[in-house]
Formats: sequence, C-alpha cells, structure tokens
Amino acid sequence: MTKPFDQDPADPNFEVSLRPPAFSEFAGQDKVRERLELLVAAAKGRGDVLEHILLSGPPGLGKTSLAYIVAQSMGVAIKSTSGPVIEKAGDLAGLLTTMERGDVLFIDEIHRLQATIEEYLYPAMEDFKLDIIIDQGPNARSVRLNLPKFTLIGATTRSGMISAPLRSRFGMDCRMNYYSAEDLQGIVLRSAGLLDVQIDPAGAMEIARRARGTPRIANNLLRWVRDFAQVRADGRVNAEVADAALAMRDIDADGFDEMDKRVVEALIYKFNGGPVGLSSLGVAVGEEAGTLEEVHEPYLIMQGYLKRTPQGRVAMPKAYAKLGLQAPGKALGHQGELFASE
Ligand SMILES: Nc1ncnc2c1ncn2[C@@H]1O[C@H](COP(=O)(O)OP(=O)(O)O)[C@@H](O)[C@H]1O
Ligand SMILES: [Mg+2]
Repeated sequence: MTKPFDQDPADPNFEVSLRPPAFSEFAGQDKVRERLELLVAAAKGRGDVLEHILLSGPPGLGKTSLAYIVAQSMGVAIKSTSGPVIEKAGDLAGLLTTMERGDVLFIDEIHRLQATIEEYLYPAMEDFKLDIIIDQGPNARSVRLNLPKFTLIGATTRSGMISAPLRSRFGMDCRMNYYSAEDLQGIVLRSAGLLDVQIDPAGAMEIARRARGTPRIANNLLRWVRDFAQVRADGRVNAEVADAALAMRDIDADGFDEMDKRVVEALIYKFNGGPVGLSSLGVAVGEEAGTLEEVHEPYLIMQGYLKRTPQGRVAMPKAYAKLGLQAPGKALGHQGELFASE
C-alpha cells in the first residue's frame, strides 16, 4: 500500500490515508486527469518546470489530491497554503523565497486571496519576480526579489470569483465535475481496501449512490457504514447492511444534503416552482448567491431537479416528485416551450 502524503491540515486525518497518491489511483475525472498527466510528461521530458494550474469545482471532488499527485509525479516538493491565510505580502515572500526550482506552491481557496496580495502574485507568476515594499513613510522602498521558477497550483470552489487577470496567468484551467455512481463505487471499494473493510460491490454501490457525486462524502459514509456493520452485523458490508446503516443516519436516498433540500423546498413552496432570481433564492435559503450558484446548484441541475432559465431558476418535475407533489403540468409545459432552445 502506498504511503499517504504529508498532511493537509484542512482534512481530518482519516482522509489523508484515503487520498489517492498517484494518477493511477485517482478514479474518474478522465479529462482533467489526462490533461494533467500530459502536462507532467511534457514538462518532465523537457526538464522544464510545470506551468501554473487552476483547479476548480465543488468541495470534496479531489482538487487537493490532484495538486499533491501532480507534485509527486513531477518529483518536486509542494508547499501548501490557503488564500485567507496569506495576510501580508511578506507571507507570500516567505513562501516563495524558500522554494526550489520546479517546486509547487499550492494555494487552496485562491478566490479568497486579498486583492493586494493578488497584485504581488502577478509578476511572481509571470516573471518570477517579487517586488516588495519595505519600510514605511519616507523610507519606504521597493526591493525586487528574484524567485526560482516555480509552479503555482490554485484550487477554488468559486471559479467565478477568480479575477480575469489572475485567471489569465494560469496555463491550464481544469474544471472538476461530480463523479458518476460507478466511479464512486470504485472509490468506495478502494477505500474499503485501505480501511480493511469487507464490502461487496452492491454494498459499495449503495454508498456511491448516496454520496452526492462526491468522493469525500463517499468516504465519510463508508466509515459510518463500517462502524454500523461492526456493531450491528458481522462486520461485512452488503447492500442490505449499507442500506440499514444509511437509513439510521437519515441519509437521503438521492444523496441530498441539507442545502439541497432547502433549495428544492424554497423553490417550490416559497416561489411556486419559479422562475425565481438567484439572489431571491439565496436569501430564502440563507446562502450567498454566488456560493449557491457554484457550489450547490450544479448538483441539482446535473440531477435534473432544477433548471436555469433566463427568467430565473425553475423547479423540474423531479423536484416536485421529491417532495411528494405532482408537478403542475401546464406551467411546466409552458416553461419547456419558452426555453426549449436554452
Ligand atoms: N478521484 C478520486 N479517487 C479516489 N479518491 C478520491 C478522489 N477524489 C477525491 N478522493 C477522496 O476524497 C477526499 C477529498 O478530496 P480532496 O482532494 O481533499 O477534495 P477537494 O480538495 O476538491 O475538496 C480525498 O481525501 C480522497 O480520499
Ligand atoms: Mg481541498
């Protein structure tokens, strides 16, 4: 079994050991994975430094894992930080000046970098130079630091909040999508192997289907199901045991989380199925519009509960069915016609 990477403080420990350590163990996201593998192979072939990479997508889909895998396959060191942690230009300088040629600086939640820090980052990314101001008042002067050629890997759940100048400095922009149940099933089986859990493919599928397309959730559910099987069964997980375990936790059969439920309920009960503007929906569910749009909505749209139209968000028949209601046929037919070309 491969050794886990050094720890990511943002993750509970158990996840560290389940983190895929190499491209070969990273399931799904074929397009993203293949592009990154190609970039790595090309850079290595030329003895060059990898270009800057932006990874975006909802939480728990493998952005941090990929950043570590990329560094690992390049055979370079990785330094990990996060947007809100970098408060002063000096923090950035401290990180960058201790890097060696080719090393990776991983900035998680890069959309939360302060604008002033971003300004410092531009020349660092482009020309590998950092101009920092030292001293204050009349003695203030700018000092130029030459940096080794490095690779910045940024991760964000809020792609829309990345400013155009920052985005344009990444050589590669990778968008991650939710995983299929089949991919998640594979991930659950792999994790079960690492955790020494006996599980059959049907049991893994039960977990996969409820994991909201997200490997992190799948791993969390697996641990719960393992505990359940240990106490309530003979330790082995099959479909029946997984089902009973997940029922005990009120895990929704469609993988809905609290916010998914709130969105669907608000859309139907408060806004009559829509169309409703994103910001009104955000207020109704108590979430910022941008986060709703980029973090929560994509899953509901992918699963066919909700639709984006020029007039706003509209509940689809599946959303009504979810609440045990009949979709108002006429209204929906109307919507369908109006926005059929969308
Ligand atoms: N493609 C994958 N294959 C196997 N496990 C994965 C994959 N993607 C994510 N995971 C699991 O999910 C966890 C969360 O992934 P992470 O990289 O931290 O997501 P993100 O940084 O996008 O929030 C990882 O620790 C790992 O256990
Ligand atoms: Mg992460």
